[in-house]
Amino acid sequence: MNKTAIVRCEHFNAAHRLHNSNWSDEKNREVFGKCNNPSYHGHNYELEVKVIGFCDPDTGYVMDTKLLSDIIKDKVLDKFDHKNLNVDTSEFAGLNPTAENIAMVIYNLLKPELDENLELKIKLYETRRNIVEYPY
Ligand code: NI
Repeated sequence: MNKTAIVRCEHFNAAHRLHNSNWSDEKNREVFGKCNNPSYHGHNYELEVKVIGFCDPDTGYVMDTKLLSDIIKDKVLDKFDHKNLNVDTSEFAGLNPTAENIAMVIYNLLKPELDENLELKIKLYETRRNIVEYPY
């Protein structure tokens, strides 16, 4: 029997600034460009949460999508939506909020909430053209 993947698509808006406090302002501007803007800037993040596993023979589900949706809302959206990631969240207090790191943080927030037999993959669209997948 093959595994099946289910994907739940979600959305959040958040502000961020890419900055390495170990570097000079000049180097930060050089490396991060507009993303280093001290006044922050925002993105409309699109999030795809993929859960992979065997269908339960009783329900026909990999997992209940309502439950998945509730977990994502509780653990990710309520935490990050309409927030300044650098300032308002403990997750990015010491971690640069790049799309790569946001995807990893979301994975780490969701993974403990899922049945241990299920695999989890995160796909985060920072823009339509900038997409990150974790883990890969
Ligand atoms: Ni940005």
